[in-house]
Amino acid sequence: MSESDLRRLYREQAPRPPEGRFSLEELLPGQGPLELDIGFGRGLSLFERAEAAPESRIVGIEVKTKLAYQADQRLRKHGVRNVSILCGDAREILKRAEPARSVSRASIHFPDPWWKKRHGKRRVIGEGLLAELGRLVKPGGELFIQTDVEHRAEEYVAQLRAQTDFVLRSPSGYVDRNPFDARSNRERRAIRDGLPVWRILAVRR
Ligand SMILES: C[S@@+](CC[C@H](N)C(=O)[O-])C[C@H]1O[C@@H](n2cnc3c(N)ncnc32)[C@H](O)[C@@H]1O
Repeated sequence: MSESDLRRLYREQAPRPPEGRFSLEELLPGQGPLELDIGFGRGLSLFERAEAAPESRIVGIEVKTKLAYQADQRLRKHGVRNVSILCGDAREILKRAEPARSVSRASIHFPDPWWKKRHGKRRVIGEGLLAELGRLVKPGGELFIQTDVEHRAEEYVAQLRAQTDFVLRSPSGYVDRNPFDARSNRERRAIRDGLPVWRILAVRR
């Protein structure tokens, strides 16, 4: 297949969210806890989390059509039934998601790889996303963010301190380990290379 055929395939076949306001509950059958994995990239965290928490219903959101398409194909091939993929900008998709207070856990692994100031608008973690997560995550539900960039981690902690929906789990903001037994691709690489990872856990008030 030519490059342009492949691009068209990804664009046309990557699973899209429903139009307008939609229910996260209806994306996956059952009553298990709803979880979000925002910007899952190559998708290792989806597979590891689906195995670690088979009772959970995991919604993965990824803006890149190729990655969303490929993760969806691999999940189907391996018969993973508790993950649903939505392709698009998480900031836009979550604005339309319902119901409020339905999500038990949201993970954002190694977000925002853009360094230049002019790319600030691309960053997924910001007031808008945190407000939507504040609406969607249920009281006692968790928000987990991890990164290998120290100053980004400091920014995320500061952003979480500046809002009122979530409270940081530890006084520093950081926790020692990933509490969800699901590594992302970047996390696995950082561990393999012995690089530090900053892990932030917050709980919905
Ligand atoms: C540095 S990668 C990390 C991928 C994966 N989470 C990991 O840890 O290996 C960041 C990912 O977030 C995705 N992303 C960035 N902005 C996004 C947005 N607004 N909505 C959804 N996904 C986004 C990118 O396409 C990319 O796959």
